[in-house]
Amino acid sequence: MAITEYYTPTHVYFGKGVEDKAGEILKKRGATKVLVHFGGGSVKKSGLLNKVENSLEENGISYIELGGVVPNPRISLVREGVEIGRREGVDYVLAVGGGSVVDSAKAICYGIFDKEKGDTWDYYAYTRVPEGATPLGVILTLSATGSEMSDSSVITNEEKGLKRGYNSNFVRPAFSLLNPELTYTVSPYQTSCGTADIMMHTIERYFHAGDTLELTDRLSLALVKEVMEAGILALEEPDNYDARANLMWAGSLSHNGLMQVGNAVRGDWACHQLEHELSGMFDVAHGAGLAAIWATWARYVVAENPSRFVKMGVYLFDMEESGDKMADALKAIDYMENYFKEINMPTNLRELGIDPTEEEYRKLAESASYFGKRTLGSFKTLTPEDMYNIFKAAR
Ligand code: NZQ
Ligand code: ZN
Repeated sequence: MAITEYYTPTHVYFGKGVEDKAGEILKKRGATKVLVHFGGGSVKKSGLLNKVENSLEENGISYIELGGVVPNPRISLVREGVEIGRREGVDYVLAVGGGSVVDSAKAICYGIFDKEKGDTWDYYAYTRVPEGATPLGVILTLSATGSEMSDSSVITNEEKGLKRGYNSNFVRPAFSLLNPELTYTVSPYQTSCGTADIMMHTIERYFHAGDTLELTDRLSLALVKEVMEAGILALEEPDNYDARANLMWAGSLSHNGLMQVGNAVRGDWACHQLEHELSGMFDVAHGAGLAAIWATWARYVVAENPSRFVKMGVYLFDMEESGDKMADALKAIDYMENYFKEINMPTNLRELGIDPTEEEYRKLAESASYFGKRTLGSFKTLTPEDMYNIFKAAR
């Protein structure tokens, strides 16, 4: 059994009204100048930003605001945030929003801390390694990415047309305020994208090569099952507290490392890497991109270990086994695909709203393989040609 690490330094506050504690927590943590980072306006419309401002002011904390984060967050705004942070002596960043805002904030945290005052993209291009990061707090408004507890952030370089992730423990948030009520206003489409993303963070870990712990397997399948039910309930009743609460906590647990303890390798992650190319090139929503590619990936790799798919099918869909492993595995994939349809997620690229040209298919595969320098996946190792085949078959 390989050694896995489980490191979750994030202090989580969960429940109704936790956002009101922002100022008090930041004060206790010694913050003096906070950069409040947010997206395109949902936090203004909901009145959340106003509440945060009041909480900071009541606690005598000086702050600067930087909004404008877009889905698939851009390096240009990160650079702006870094510049403000360095100039103004920012010593804490507070992200108020969804995964894109949290990721943009994480990149800014690297940049402000950087003693060399270099370009923050360098970390995402893997040409430099960070030595630390300014501390980060989060008020989450969308259950999806798990960035509120994870070590990762994903940034798009719009000039280069690249979307790249970078992982390090430096940017695990110091604290995260999780109030499920803040997600009542999330649109049905984004609720489904979030549901798909949360499921996939665990499913990508479940499908890996090698040993695992039965406990990790059972926790994983239980999490996915709950998310599937809560996702449907949240679509039917957007302000159902229990549905939103289950989605929110599952989002955090799905991506904080819990679902990989005891795994021989960290997971498969091919679908995520392939999807990042899609959202990098076509600016589609991450969760939708995952749903659009998963079943094609699954059918491409199923022969490696059909039993894994059968176990998933039996637990998640109460599937009856026929004794024909391959047939059952394929049936389990069909069930999962049907679930994505049920929550109005795309199950191929055309439904995702894109129809790449032959040249674009080649480019997607080249970029996913870092121009021939890497393979993807661990359940089945994918060569650049496999990546191309999966993109094409997902059409
Ligand atoms: O910008 P605003 O106005 O806030 O609107 C957002 C945005 O348009 C809206 N929204 C958020 N909270 C809302 C709300 N609308 C109404 N009410 C609320 N309470 O939802 C839209 C999508 O937001 P976004 O933050 O982009 O979504 P998500 O949380 O899914 O984040 C996606 C990004 O995270 C990356 C993805 O690749 C993508 O760039 N990921 C980050 C990961 C990580 N750091 O660990 C892991 C993931 O696998 C993923 O790659
Ligand atoms: Zn994801």
